[in-house]
Parts: sequence; C-alpha cells; structure tokens
Amino acid sequence: MAIEDKIKELLDKRELAKLGGGQKRIDSQHSKGKLTARERIDLLLDEGSFEEFDMFVTHNCHDFGLEKESYMSDGVVTGYGTIDGRLVYVFSQDFTVFGGSLSEAYAQKICKLLDKAMKMGAPVIGINDSGGARIQEGVKSLGGYAEIFQRNIMASGVIPQISAIFGPCAGGAVYSPALTDFIFMTKKNSYMFVTGPKVVKTVTGEVVTDDELGGASVHGSKSGVTHFVTEDEQEGILMIRKLLSYLPQNNLEEAPLAPCNDPIHRLEDSLNYIIPENPNKPYDVKDVIHSIADYNEFMEIHRNYAPNIVIGYARFNGVSVGIVANQPSYLAGVLDINASRKAARFVRFCDAFNIPILTLVDVPGFLPGTAQEYGGIITNGAKLLYAYGEATVPKITVILRKAYGGAYDVMSSKHLRGDINYAWPTAEIAVMGPKGAIEVLNSKQIAAITDPIEKEEFIRKNEQEYKDKFANPYNAAKYGYIDDVIEPRNTRFRVIRALQSLATKKDVNPPKKHDNLPL
Ligand code: HXC
Repeated sequence: MAIEDKIKELLDKRELAKLGGGQKRIDSQHSKGKLTARERIDLLLDEGSFEEFDMFVTHNCHDFGLEKESYMSDGVVTGYGTIDGRLVYVFSQDFTVFGGSLSEAYAQKICKLLDKAMKMGAPVIGINDSGGARIQEGVKSLGGYAEIFQRNIMASGVIPQISAIFGPCAGGAVYSPALTDFIFMTKKNSYMFVTGPKVVKTVTGEVVTDDELGGASVHGSKSGVTHFVTEDEQEGILMIRKLLSYLPQNNLEEAPLAPCNDPIHRLEDSLNYIIPENPNKPYDVKDVIHSIADYNEFMEIHRNYAPNIVIGYARFNGVSVGIVANQPSYLAGVLDINASRKAARFVRFCDAFNIPILTLVDVPGFLPGTAQEYGGIITNGAKLLYAYGEATVPKITVILRKAYGGAYDVMSSKHLRGDINYAWPTAEIAVMGPKGAIEVLNSKQIAAITDPIEKEEFIRKNEQEYKDKFANPYNAAKYGYIDDVIEPRNTRFRVIRALQSLATKKDVNPPKKHDNLPL
C-alpha cells in the first residue's frame, strides 16, 4: 500500500471513530438536549489542545452477538489537553456506543488515563453518561469498575478529580464519581442512584421517578452527593474550568496566583454596620464574603445543601482561598449533621491541596434535638472538628458575631491550631448565649420569684451582667485566644496581610499509616 493510501486509511479510521455509535445515535443524543462525548471535550479544553489516546481500542467480547458489533473507542473517549494552558486528563463516556456502558477494554482506557495523570501530577475530569456495566461482559465489567475505583482512591488527595454527570450514572458506577472530589450535575438529563426506580418498586414498593430518586435537585439539596447543579452542560463545563482555576495541579503544588488589581487596602464601610443590633436578627454572610474577596468574586460549592454553612473559593490579592462561613440567615447558622459533613470534606480537600482556609464565624452552637442525636451529630460534628484540627495549611479565622459553646472550638479556633484568629468588636464568645446561661445559672432564683415584673427585671439584669462579661471579644482576647480585634471594614486588608505572613508556614502531623477520622 502506498503511503498516501496508508494515510487515507488512518484518516478514514479516525473519521469512523469520531462517529461513535453512528449518526442516528448522535442525532438521538442531540434530540435529548445532550452533547456528544467529543463535543463535551472540545468545549471543556482549550481550543485544539486535545490529544486522544486509544481511539482504535475495541471490546474483546464474544458473547451475545457482540463479536459482530464493535465500535472504535468502545464507548469512552480519553486523552489529555489543557485548560487555561494547564495540563488536564479527561475521559468522556460516549452514550452512542452501547449506551456508554463499561466493558473491560473501556475500563482499561480509563485506568491508563488515571495512571498517566498520577505520574504527571495533573487533574482528571471524568464526564459520565452511561448505562453502567456492559451487561454482555458480565463480571469483567464489574472488575473494570473496581480497577477504576482503586485508582480513584490512590489518586485521592494527590491530584484533583472532578466528575461531571451529564446523563445516567447508575448502580455501582456511581462510586467512581463518589470517590472524586467534586461532582457536577445538570438540571435535566442527569441522575445518579445505586438502585433505579424499577428495583426500588420491586423491593420496597415505593413508586418514584428517576428525577425524584436521583436527579440533580435531589443530590444538590437533600443528599449532598453533587457539589454543583448547573442549568445545562455548557454551564457545567464552564464551571469546571473555573473551579480548576482555584486549584493546584497536585498536592505538591500551590494553586496558581491570579493577577490582582483590586486594592488590598480597599475599605468596605458597609461591613461596620452589617451586624444588626439585635443579636437574633440575621444577615447574609455571603455579603461579607463578596465584599472582602478580590473583585467581589466567590465560587460557592454545595449552594443548596446545608445552607446554614457556606463553603467555596475566593481570591485574596490573587491567592486562592477556601472559605467556610456560618450562615446566620439560614437556621441562624447552627451547626448540624449535614453542615458539619459538608464543611469537613471541604476543609480536608483544601488541606490536601495546600489551599489556605478562611473561616468566618457566627454560630449559635450545635442544633439540639433527637433527630440530630439519633442521626449522629456527635460523630458528624467530630468530623469538622477533626478536619480543622488535622489541617496544616494556613488557617485564618474571623469571629463576626456569635461563637458559642463547642461550636466556638470547632470553627477553626486558636486551640485547633488556628494561625491567626481575629474577631470583630461585635463578637460574642461564650459557653452559651445569655438567655440560656441565665436560665441554667439562676434557675432556682428565677423559679422563686412570683411577681412576673420582678422576674423579668431579675432576668434582664443578670443577662446584662452576663453580656457585659462575655458577649464581647475582649475576654477571649485577654487570654490570647483572639490575636486582635479588627475593624470590620478593614477585614480584607487584615486577611491579606495574614495570608502574606503565613505564606511560608510549615506544620506537620505525626507520622502514621493514616488517621481514623470519625466516619
Ligand atoms: C449494554 C446497554 C446498556 C448496558 C444501555 N445499553 N445500557 N448495553 N449494557 N448496561 C444499550 C441499549 O441496549 C441501547 O442499544 C443503547 O445502549 C441505548 O439504550 P436505551 O435503553 O435505548 O436508552 P435510554 O432509553 O436512553 O435508556 C438509558 C438507560 C437504559 C436508562 C441507561 O439503557 C438502561 O436502563 N440500561 C441498563 C442500565 C443498567 O441496569 N445497567 C446495569 C447497572 S448495574 P441500541 O443498540 O439500541 O442503541 C451496574 C453495576 C456496576 O452498572 C457495578 C460496579 C461496581
């Protein structure tokens, strides 16, 4: 064969591979409002940067007539490219080939990719759109999944792993995304569940739709499985690119420093007045975050899950910072099971990837009640405590208002190796709020007073005394638990200075095989 013919053969094969399961199935994919595996990669990566691996791979199955039907790439497109000029590895499941179902050869392609990403120390993005295990391949497919899981586990904490769910993701297949760091789902077309509606109906009799069982809104608000819910695939892909801009390539690097023209001295006068005079009145902590961050930009994670705590990324003078903030405008910012789990995983991710943590505190305590105790608030609250205590990245804390009880300790206090702990003059740091404290301390005296006016006056006087003593930051500052009391409007500058001073921080935990985080 002449070289021209050989090259034509190559180009023809490439064209064929790019058609996946054929034009009809591509049209069907488009008709559902979905992009194809390759279109998704093209949108995700810098233009022209994609280099594909294993385009010529086909399956090795000879059962159920599959020997007569095979497609190049075998249902998953893999390779590398760049996002904002930085190397990333990507796999994108192709629903047009056997419903994107996973064969042995397909699993090997993903494993090869994960191995390369680990060697190179670059993030992996997996785009999921699959009917799960390829039924015709039986246990080989199951083995393939587990090979992927094992690599996800080894890569955890070494390279960022991001999953996009742009179609079905069911059965054991959900566990690969679950092992990764961040999951994105689209409002339509994406769902994740371990057992689908049909099995649910057979086993429990419960009738439920795909969406009700595992749609984006369920996982974005009830289960917390997904970190981001996006309008469509395009938005999801843009957000993945944005998220990566806050992250380092791997655990040995730091996140890229962004150019910053937002003045570090920028005073935000409104912050002096943001805390309402009435301590029971809420305000939106996101207003605080936006006003102190570079260009007022904040990328929130888990927006609709446990909104009593806010987590996400912002930059301070170009430095990427993970923010954890109690949200007084939802359940008064109380710590409950979900909020603790949500923030704990985020703190651990930041710590694993050298991203400093800024904690903004306004917390009335842990949520009381049987629902929380039965659900294990003890173990789950301990997760957050543990995460902060083991984190060795720079930790800056600003107490805005309440820091009561155990929640004071948990929220990156000085005692959990908080590096720089500030408080606003509006801070109240105490074992509990004045009302509760007086009821405990003076219960007998209060019960003994029969005249209601006298009783009210007694309570008011004692509450005031308690407030004067504890409802301020100076008592904690007296013991060095607070490094300084700062003017709210100057918070941006103080945080940036703190970050600058902590840039060379070195702290290590004792050697161990691994920890025993309360799971
Ligand atoms: C082989 C599959 C397949 C699968 C779909 N296809 N799933 N082929 N193995 N798992 C094929 C279909 O035969 C069809 O082929 C094409 O993909 C598109 O599927 P449709 O059913 O036409 O598409 P749609 O109506 O959109 O439904 C999509 C679907 C459905 C909801 C995903 O296909 C489905 O329920 N599939 C089975 C899902 C499942 O039970 N998987 C096993 C889960 S257990 P043609 O030739 O017509 O285009 C599991 C264990 C993993 O995954 C364990 C890991 C530890």
